[in-house]
Amino acid sequence: MKLLLLCLGLTLVCVHAEEASSMSRNFNVEKISGYWFSIAAASDKRETIEENGSMRVFVENITVLENSLVFKFHFIANEECMKMTLIGYKTEKPGTYYVNYDGFNTFPICKTNYENYIMFHLINKKDGETFQVMELYGQEPDLSSDIK
Ligand SMILES: *[C@@H]1O[C@H](CO)[C@@H](O)[C@H](O)[C@H]1NC(C)=O
Ligand SMILES: *[C@@H]1O[C@H](CO)[C@@H](O)[C@H](O)[C@H]1NC(C)=O
Repeated sequence: MKLLLLCLGLTLVCVHAEEASSMSRNFNVEKISGYWFSIAAASDKRETIEENGSMRVFVENITVLENSLVFKFHFIANEECMKMTLIGYKTEKPGTYYVNYDGFNTFPICKTNYENYIMFHLINKKDGETFQVMELYGQEPDLSSDIK
């Protein structure tokens, strides 16, 4: 799978999108349930999404539960493909979840059209430091350059 490493410019796009969509009342989280492909990732701490980085994970699917999202991921460790399940729990902010994984992470679902793509903006805090990751998932193994 090709993983594009994009620059942080994306974050600015996302911050605007966040105001427009994850906060919106008609956001329907159930609709993101199902199989997804990791399309692109960006980070202001690039090694986290590069080889052996903790955020270099590839989504298989998302299951929506009442108070949580269950993510199935694959990642490569010691040249082997491993599976991992992470559970993101609801926060008070609509459309925003948290997960303990390599630190404490909060991640608003910042943009989705449900059918093609979904974008997360993850903020990691660990040992007093912070970094951000943008993740783009698609329903197909690739997305149009428009969306990217
Ligand atoms: C996600 O995949 C698991 C198997 O890995 C399956 O049991 C579960 O039903 C799937 N969930 C969705 C929403 O597709
Ligand atoms: C990733 O981990 C493997 C196995 O531990 C190692 O051989 C490889 O050099 C590492 N790659 C990087 C970029 O650190």
